[in-house]
Parts: sequence; structure tokens; C-alpha cells
Amino acid sequence: MAAATIALIFFFGFLQVPVLARYGFYDYGFDISQHVKRQIDQPFVVMGRPGDVQMRQEIRQLEQDKEQWTLYILGLSMLQFTDQSSPMSWYGLTGIHGIPHKTWGGVGPTPGNEKTGYCTHSSVLFPTWHRPYLVLYEQVLYGLVQSIAALWPEGDAKVKYKAAAEKFRIPYWDWASTPPSGQSVLPASVGEQPYIDIDGPSGMQRIANPLFAYTFTPLNATEFLQRPWNTWTSTLRSPTTNDNTAQSNNSLVARNLDQNLASISQRLYILFSNYANYTLFSNNAWIPLVSNQSYDSLESLHDTIHNLAGGGGLGQPNVQGGHMSYIPYSAFDPIFFLHHANVDRIFAIWQTLNPKSWVLPQAAVLSSYTTSRGEIQNSTTALTPFYAGSDGTFWTSDSVRDHTKFGYTYAELSGGAKAGSKARRQVMKAINRLYGHSSPTRLFRDAGKSQSATDSRPGGSGTASAEKDTESALAGTMFAGGHYREWIANIRVAKQALNEPFAIYLFSGSPPQDPREWPTSQSSFGMMGVFASDNADGMSADQLDVSGTIPLTGRLTEMVMSGQLASLEPRDVEGYLKSNLQRWVLGVSGRVYNTAGLRSLKVEVVSSSVRAPITDEELPEWGKARVHFELK
Ligand SMILES: *[C@@H]1O[C@H](CO)[C@@H](O)[C@H](O)[C@H]1NC(C)=O
Ligand SMILES: *[C@@H]1O[C@H](CO)[C@@H](O)[C@H](O)[C@H]1NC(C)=O
Ligand SMILES: *[C@@H]1O[C@H](CO)[C@@H](O)[C@H](O)[C@H]1NC(C)=O
Ligand SMILES: *[C@@H]1O[C@H](CO)[C@@H](O)[C@H](O)[C@H]1NC(C)=O
Ligand SMILES: *[C@@H]1O[C@H](CO)[C@@H](O)[C@H](O)[C@H]1NC(C)=O
Repeated sequence: MAAATIALIFFFGFLQVPVLARYGFYDYGFDISQHVKRQIDQPFVVMGRPGDVQMRQEIRQLEQDKEQWTLYILGLSMLQFTDQSSPMSWYGLTGIHGIPHKTWGGVGPTPGNEKTGYCTHSSVLFPTWHRPYLVLYEQVLYGLVQSIAALWPEGDAKVKYKAAAEKFRIPYWDWASTPPSGQSVLPASVGEQPYIDIDGPSGMQRIANPLFAYTFTPLNATEFLQRPWNTWTSTLRSPTTNDNTAQSNNSLVARNLDQNLASISQRLYILFSNYANYTLFSNNAWIPLVSNQSYDSLESLHDTIHNLAGGGGLGQPNVQGGHMSYIPYSAFDPIFFLHHANVDRIFAIWQTLNPKSWVLPQAAVLSSYTTSRGEIQNSTTALTPFYAGSDGTFWTSDSVRDHTKFGYTYAELSGGAKAGSKARRQVMKAINRLYGHSSPTRLFRDAGKSQSATDSRPGGSGTASAEKDTESALAGTMFAGGHYREWIANIRVAKQALNEPFAIYLFSGSPPQDPREWPTSQSSFGMMGVFASDNADGMSADQLDVSGTIPLTGRLTEMVMSGQLASLEPRDVEGYLKSNLQRWVLGVSGRVYNTAGLRSLKVEVVSSSVRAPITDEELPEWGKARVHFELK
């Protein structure tokens, strides 16, 4: 609480009138910068709101709550217009992650690592490092939100806003669940308009939408040395050009996220049901002997979202991806924290399912600002620069293991803080409801139910139910003794195989000529994004291989349903995939690369026998993977 107050005082001292093009920040009717002036002169302690656990909500849900939403938008806007030289400004906080490679909170670099950010990637610390990072951002925003609520004129509204402010927590963006009918996976509030009308303490005003982009105030060309970063004055998604006329093409980003939703939700569902080991679940590093059996990870799935949100080569030819596609620039885009709050939520849900599995010591494969490659990282490694106390101690994986100590949680976990079997069942039910929709298990579960309860349905004579019966009968042919077969492409590749981030695509036969049509192509099996750096960042590791997956079962199931394949069994599927499956590589610049020379690229097709869940309080059980062939 004390820290939040200090932060608040600090901000107001740094608020400046923006030099901004079309839309500005909210005008409160007086010069806020005259309000308070003070500096923080000691370590900024990350603490959240201990003892006061409130829900982090999905962004669309937060939007339904007028007071919370108004405060969120006004808080973000104020943060983005705070002077960039303040470590607590948008620029200061998001700059912790990568560029501008500056010391934050007095935590200097270790020798040789001056040209990187603090973020940890391809590391067992990937999920835990980002947890206090989000809490820091939440705490700073919380402080602003309190002060904004206090600006309403005395009366009922002020009482309501102050009450809403106390419950304020950052929202998350669930990119893996089905959006409400008629909407995109990319929320309209994030991608539709560069402005937003907001009814604040001084009435309705049209301001720059702080979720659409961050506009640098101003862009510091000394800190963004390379093109196009030093010409882009705002953050961009699927940029239209490489020069200063660039605009975001959010509708394209929305379309590409929608096209990949089935694949993304299947990956998440599989991560929850078949990844019980933290070392493997947590990060995308492919380490010989450790990673052989297990290719996907929370980080790899998160990489794919970065790739798609930045544009991933699917925009204009020869125009590179936006900020989200590149590790060192990604955090400037306001969608970054929404995305990472969801990553933290997935991590917290996973922890409830796997309470015993935790960080084991492992050598860092990438350098960060305070870590050199090769250094052993373990559960007590300092998560710099996030101070846990004013005595200079830092948060560690062990000390952030229970997220509720920071005063937040997620709806799926509200059943109980401790991971009892009841909490686990509740979590599994939520996973089935939110992410089971694209998994073939849903079909098989329904088939299983109708097999065991034939004709017991009341009034089941409509067309819809007849169709459902046919579907169930077909599903029944793929589903024997409660089991069916899942097919997956396991992929491994050098993280810096190219001079840019990229994605691997799989097709049945040749893809369309124009890569922009890849996501919507009928022959696509899906894509896996690789989130890399450009050569401005010192973290890029030539030796590092990363891994991930593309699930194949969803599309194969459709083929069985439409009669193109006889079954999901190897006798029908293996030959088909061997002669039809193709791998393609697309750089975020839109360039298509020859896969033959791509460093470390290996695509392996595997299958597993899976026991479908019988009730919605269980998850599928996966048998051992069988390797069928390597795709060349
Ligand atoms: C731009 O960045 C450089 C290098 O970090 C810094 O010295 C300078 O003060 C910055 N300029 C502004 C206007 O913030
Ligand atoms: C955005 O992408 C869509 C789909 O490719 C395209 O039709 C549209 O012209 C693009 N918009 C801009 C502003 O480039
Ligand atoms: C794992 O991979 C390594 C090197 O790629 C290989 O030597 C080893 O036999 C593999 N282990 C298993 C269990 O597949
Ligand atoms: C998790 O995986 C790591 C790396 O393969 C291994 O050392 C560890 O023993 C595994 N943990 C469990 C509980 O199996
Ligand atoms: C973690 O690593 C540090 C050194 O980096 C070491 O002092 C400590 O004993 C290790 N702790 C565990 C639990 O492995």
C-alpha cells in the first residue's frame, strides 16, 4: 500500500503535456503535474495487494463493468502519457523486458550482458519471471486508478468509482476460448479503433485508445537504432509499411487469430492434459535427452500468439512484423500485458493440476541482463529486477509460487487456494468447457455418451438431433473401448535459424502461392510461431534449438467424418500423411524460406492412444507417443 502511494506521487510529478498527433489523454481540467512532486529513492518493492484477493477478469468481462472499465482505460492512458524518463512510465516498465537495455531500479547488468533485456526466455524461469513483472505493472496501474477515482466530484458516482478502484486488477485476454458469437478472438476494444470515448470525472471525452497502440512520447532514435523501429512512432500490428506512414492492420491480425483458434485451443488442451512435468511444460528450449519425449510448452504456445499478434509475415509483402513479433520490442504493445496475464493464468491453472511439479535446476541457454548462458538457474534464483523487500532481496520462483499472496486470482481457481482434489475437479471442468471445444475428445465423449444411453433422449426426432446421431455414429467408428488416436507433428528448429522471427506451417499438399492466404487455406494443418530477436539484441543464441507442436487430429477427424479417410488408425493415416504432408517456413517479413537449409529443423509425426474423458471433471489420458516418420 505504501509503495502504491509512493508510486502515485511519483507519476504525478512526471506527467507532461503530450506532443501527440490526433488523440491525446484525458483532460481532467487542471494541470495534474502541479499536484504532487516527489521521487522514489529506494528500491521499488513489488507486492501487489497482499491480503486482498480480487479476480483478474477476462477483458471482455471487465468491459461489462462500467466503473472498472473506465478506470482501466483512464489508468492506462495516464501511464502511457507519463514522461518516458520515469522508470514507472509505460516506457520505463515495458522497457524492462528488452529494448532499451537500460538499468531499472538500480539493478545493473552482469558483464557481457549489457545488450539484452531482463526477460528470461527458453528458461525454467519463463513462467515465474513474468509473474512479478505483471504484479509490478498491476501495482503501478492500481495506484493510478485510485488517484483517478478520487477525482470524481463528491457524490454517488465518486463512491461507486472509489469502490470499483479498490477491486481493480489487470484483465487478461483469453486467446484460446471461443469468442462470443459474431466477435473475433481479438477483442474489438483492442483492435477496432485508435480512439475511445470515455466518461471520466470531467465528463465524456474522446481520447487515444491505450489498448490500440502505444505512441512513443517521443520515439528516441538513440534507443531504437535500426529501421523500421526508428521510423515507427507507435506500436504496430501487421504494419502496412516499413516507414512512418505505417498503420496497423488489426482486422488481418483478428482474422489470422480466428483461423488458428482451433489449433491454439487444442495445443492448450493438450498442455493441460499431457504435460505434468514443469521442466518440460515451462519453456521451449529443446535440450537433448531432456526434451525428446515432449515438444510443446506454455512458452511455445505463447510464442505463436506473439507471432500472430505482430502480424507474422501475413501482411504486406516485404513489410516486417510488428512489435509483438520480436522479443526485444514486444512489451511496448499494450496487448503484451493482456497476453501475459493469460499466460500467468494458464500457469496458475496448471499449478493446481500439478501441485508437486516445480522448478528444477537447469543451465540457462540464453543470456539475459543479469544471467549468462550456462549459469545454473533454480527455484531460488533472483527474478531481477523485482524487489521483494526494501532490504534489496528479490522475488524468486519459490516465493512467487502462490500467486494469491499478491492479491489476485482467476475465476477458475476461486474454489480454493489450496490444491485439493475438489479444486482440481473444478479446474478440469473449466478446461473442458473453455478449451475442449476443438479437441476431438469432445466428439468422442459425446459418442461415448450416446453409445451408453441410446434412445433414452426425450423427444430426439428433430433434424439437428438426427445429424448429431450420424456424427456420433461416425465418431463411434474412431472410438473403440473408450480410446481413440491423436496425431501430432513435433517440431524442433534453431531459434535464430533466420535473421528474423518466423513460423513453420504444415499443409496437405502445396499451399497457396500467396502466403497471405495460408491461414485460410483448406489444406492448412496449422502453424507454430518462433519468437526470436533481431540482431539488435544480445540474447540471440546461435546454438539454441526450440521446440513446439502442431496438432493434426482435428483436421484428420474432419476427413474421417467427410469420408476422405477411413479411420484415425495408422493403417489409414500414416500413408496419407507420408505422401501429402508438407512443411513450409514463413519469415515475419512475409518471405518464404527453403526448409532444406534451415538449421536444426526436424518435423516428426507421432501418434498416441488417448482415453477420452467420461465426465466433464476429467481430462483425457495420453498413452506413450509412437514415432511414425520424419517429414523431410
Ligand atoms: C534518448 O536515449 C538516450 C540513450 O538512452 C538518452 O541518453 C537520452 O536522454 C534520451 N533522450 C530523451 C529525449 O529521452
Ligand atoms: C488489411 O488486410 C486485409 C486482408 O489482407 C486487406 O484486404 C486490407 O486491404 C488490409 N488493410 C490495409 C489498411 O492494408
Ligand atoms: C534423445 O535424443 C538424443 C540426441 O538427439 C539421443 O541420443 C537419445 O537416444 C534420445 N533419447 C530418447 C529416449 O529418444
Ligand atoms: C521432469 O523432467 C526432468 C527433465 O527431463 C527430469 O529431470 C525430472 O526428473 C522430471 N520430473 C519428474 C517428476 O518426472
Ligand atoms: C540454487 O543455486 C544457488 C546458486 O546459484 C545455490 O546457492 C543454491 O543452493 C541452489 N539451490 C537449490 C535449491 O538448488
